[in-house]
Amino acid sequence: MKKYKILMTYKNTEGLELLLNHPEIQVDIKPKPTQEELQNLIRDYEGLLIRSEVKVTKEIIESADKLKLIVRAGTGVDNVDINAANKKGIIVMNVPGGNTISACEHTIGLILAMVRNIPQAHNSLKSGRWEREKFVGNELQGKTLGLIGLGRIGSEVAKRMKAFDMRIIAYDPYVSEEYANQLGVELKSFEDLLKESDIISLHIPKTDSTKNLINKETISKMKDGVKIVNCARGGIINENDLYEALKSGKVSSAALDVFEKEPPDFSSSLFKMENVVFTPHLGASTEEAQVKIAQEVSLMIVDFFTKGVIKNAVNIPSIDFQMYEKLKPYIKLVEKIGLLQSHLTLEAVKQIEIQYVGEIFNNINTYILTSAYVKSFLSRFVDIQLNFINSQIIAKERGISIKETKLREGKEYKEYITAKVETSKSTYTISGTLISDNNCRIIEINGMDADLEPEGNIIVVSNIDKPGIIGKIGTILGDNNINIAKMFVARKIPGGEALTFINVDSEITSQLISSLEQVSGINMVKFIKL
Ligand code: NAD
Ligand code: MLT
Repeated sequence: MKKYKILMTYKNTEGLELLLNHPEIQVDIKPKPTQEELQNLIRDYEGLLIRSEVKVTKEIIESADKLKLIVRAGTGVDNVDINAANKKGIIVMNVPGGNTISACEHTIGLILAMVRNIPQAHNSLKSGRWEREKFVGNELQGKTLGLIGLGRIGSEVAKRMKAFDMRIIAYDPYVSEEYANQLGVELKSFEDLLKESDIISLHIPKTDSTKNLINKETISKMKDGVKIVNCARGGIINENDLYEALKSGKVSSAALDVFEKEPPDFSSSLFKMENVVFTPHLGASTEEAQVKIAQEVSLMIVDFFTKGVIKNAVNIPSIDFQMYEKLKPYIKLVEKIGLLQSHLTLEAVKQIEIQYVGEIFNNINTYILTSAYVKSFLSRFVDIQLNFINSQIIAKERGISIKETKLREGKEYKEYITAKVETSKSTYTISGTLISDNNCRIIEINGMDADLEPEGNIIVVSNIDKPGIIGKIGTILGDNNINIAKMFVARKIPGGEALTFINVDSEITSQLISSLEQVSGINMVKFIKL
């Protein structure tokens, strides 16, 4: 039995029993490999399971020739180069939500520790001092807590901090006023949040636009004596600018669970500051969160490799098992259309438009279908391994624009899919439908009615529609011992241009193609294996 090989880069296996004991999966645990080790190791693996201990860079992804799936056992995928994964067609999944409560509770712990100097007082007491005046703190009641990011963790923090009688405000351009109001949170502009908050807590992902969001300039807009908490991602706060603001007193104290570099540079001046509470990226580190995440990760990996289910992917729409089963026959249909069309398209392509006709397509994931078509269409022209993730990206890189349209009702068929390929000279169309889950038909080619079973060996002949040609084709094939299973002629008008499709029982040679092309009235012959 084939075993899918998964590389895991951290030690804790609690909750991973389903994955570790699965007969079709082999998990190799190599904790904290260096970047160089990872780049060498990854060549052998189809799956990679990580937390934040490694950076999956472009170089690592480029060496990962067998890799199909990267799973981040946690929320943040900022340690994975998603663009590189997209290009290579690797699915990246995370487990959003599994550690929300843990991260929220840790944030609250940091807020309380920070406002009451708990770690500093603890250290002082343990070293034999009784310094009651030194560690006078602040109450939370009546103060304003400003949340940057009102997603999963931000919202849970808001709910709980209301119990401290705080006024909660938030900046998050991607949530609605109604949602915030339901949580008892006032939505503010970024500038107003900076101005009005006594404590600012960060709950946003680290992206190009949030990197260094808290810097010298934004800190200068905050209240004097503001307090800042970061339990989201290192690098959202500029650590040098924070250090200067802590030194000047502009920021009276801070609590940091995450750092620009992890583990951080302990010689940095920031670590000498008395008014900062530090934890070593512990937001998600609870037994409950680790087990919850590990169980979900196990199921995600097993279902992906054994059933094709895509769950929690960050670079492709997710497909559950039911949806995957529903999509399977349509995937086969569009792949057949794509391959056939790639043979019939004679010039460089500018645009591909896929039209989905029928009520059913309103409820299914047509992005996957369009990607499957593009994958099949391009597969003869590119030497990159194409799949659902990278095919549309590669097409766009080659200057081909991809469009999807949907129509609720068609004319003759209840549901069908039409692929329209535009080149500088022509427009080529092919439509296909499902007869049953295992049986599809091409019903239209370049505006001509068709009845083609897109299966097996097919000879396509472009010819003038005149008497005698079909007979000659039959004779040549018969003389060469090629049995015809089915044949049909697509034509717009009698006597005009026609396309003849012949399903044959065996493959034909290039010499036989040349012999057919010698027949007067035949312009082109192609052999296609679908
Ligand atoms: P989430 O996706 O549920 O919420 C993030 C919110 O940020 C979203 O509502 C989004 O609209 C908002 N947002 C995005 N860009 C923004 C911007 N520029 N300004 C304002 N709002 C913006 O994510 P989450 O699960 O709540 O996680 C939040 C952060 O916490 C992530 O960075 C995650 O990696 C981190 N995290 C850290 C730990 C830890 O151990 N310290 C644990 C879990 C999660
Ligand atoms: C996360 O993003 O899930 C947390 O930061 C936890 C972790 O890094 O493992």
